[in-house]
Amino acid sequence: MYSEKVMDHFMNPRNVGEIENADGIGEVGNAKCGDIMKIYLKIEDNIIKDVKFKTFGCGSAIATSSMATEMIMGKSVEEALKLTNKAVAEALDGLPAVKMHCSVLAEQAVKSAIIDYAKKNNIHIDGLEDVK
Ligand code: FES
Ligand code: FES
Repeated sequence: MYSEKVMDHFMNPRNVGEIENADGIGEVGNAKCGDIMKIYLKIEDNIIKDVKFKTFGCGSAIATSSMATEMIMGKSVEEALKLTNKAVAEALDGLPAVKMHCSVLAEQAVKSAIIDYAKKNNIHIDGLEDVK
């Protein structure tokens, strides 16, 4: 039912934890199941230098969070904003259909952390207009 990559990222999640003095923090909840995810970004010169997450949720939420942190590490904030839950699921070689909603958490948490960063620094980021 789960791909090897999903199992790997669930068993050995990457970038778990918190960042002190993070430049952006995003916290989102999944309305469908009540699971929550928090993500911390360290941003220097518009580049995501470090990212850590904490997820209180199911295996798929943990695996997608872990994969999402790897996918945005070292990227510009504009690139990170383009991360979609579909891309994360594809990078994990797919998720069972009933578990696709779990991957939305990672996409939303990344966006919410970047919005937090933009607000704190009062800067405009291309692509943020489209974000709820
Ligand atoms: Fe969160 Fe699935 S409801 S574990
Ligand atoms: Fe809640 Fe997966 S069942 S995020």
